[in-house]
Amino acid sequence: MTTFAVTGATGGLGGAAISALIARGVAPSDIVAFARDDAKATPLREAGVVVRLADYERPETLDAALGGVDRLLLVSSPEVGKRTPQHRNVIDAARKAGVGFVAYTSLLGADTSPLMLAAEHRETEAYLADSGLDHALLRNGWYSENYAASAPAAIDSGVFAGSAGAAVVAPAARADYADAAAAALLAPEAGRVYELAGSQHLTYPDIAAAFGEIAGKPVRYQDLPVADYKAALVGAGVPEGAAAVFSDSDGGAAQGALDSSSTDLADLRGSPSTPFVEAIRAALR
Ligand SMILES: NC(=O)c1ccc[n+]([C@@H]2O[C@H](COP(=O)([O-])OP(=O)(O)OC[C@H]3O[C@@H](n4cnc5c(N)ncnc54)[C@H](OP(=O)(O)O)[C@@H]3O)[C@@H](O)[C@H]2O)c1
Repeated sequence: MTTFAVTGATGGLGGAAISALIARGVAPSDIVAFARDDAKATPLREAGVVVRLADYERPETLDAALGGVDRLLLVSSPEVGKRTPQHRNVIDAARKAGVGFVAYTSLLGADTSPLMLAAEHRETEAYLADSGLDHALLRNGWYSENYAASAPAAIDSGVFAGSAGAAVVAPAARADYADAAAAALLAPEAGRVYELAGSQHLTYPDIAAAFGEIAGKPVRYQDLPVADYKAALVGAGVPEGAAAVFSDSDGGAAQGALDSSSTDLADLRGSPSTPFVEAIRAALR
């Protein structure tokens, strides 16, 4: 019997990875879900998954939660700026617990990516490499759902703004990345680096057209300099830090950082990524 564990299990990616493991034949009782909020984990417990309370900031909880775990999916923390020490805590605990294989959700092209978000992923990747743990890197591209967040305002105003210029991006649904993570955990290959990107390559005008298709009205793309896009986001109520990250990421996308010709996502899953329009429709439901 193999025991799997998934961090961030009360979040979108971790929860979907657990669903994908179960869909791929793993018994819920062989899955340990890491949660820091007991109440949020109720649906997981009801599904028969073993819930253990663990907080990246509290190493003693990680030591206890990793007991008996064979393969771990370390879902990167959402707490940008705190992630490297948090991930180190998990990696240290995994080493102490003798975990056999770790898959870490990194960022597409993390080793060369110009995105500010890449730095903590590079640091975590390096720490994993030094840990001696058998591991694989799941370098996730952009979630299609990130664009869904812009859709209502874009549909309302008829304008989708961004800073990606004429570049293409290859987003995939969060559930696609989760499914790929489950597949990678089920067939562990130490040392593998998966560059995970969607099967469609879209420009931002294509994304505006997809919003228009969903809304049944025209939506056009307006390209802005990164600083202007950031100011527009702040003006729309996005907190300064998040606006800095989003606008910087679009600037990286303009350099091609959110596109890849890799077919690792489709190969791991055994099927192409969810069509973009379908992923946006589902996210807006
Ligand atoms: N590639 C992309 O486009 C993209 C987009 C967004 C995020 N990401 C990255 O991918 C990760 C997974 O995405 P997601 O959509 O699943 O994010 P999410 O829905 O925000 O889930 C994050 C998970 O991390 C948990 N968490 C946060 N702080 C923690 C801590 N100190 N100790 C233990 N657990 C903690 C959360 O627990 P609670 O439920 O208790 O808050 C939640 O379960 C994100 O965390 C971020 O690093 C990537």
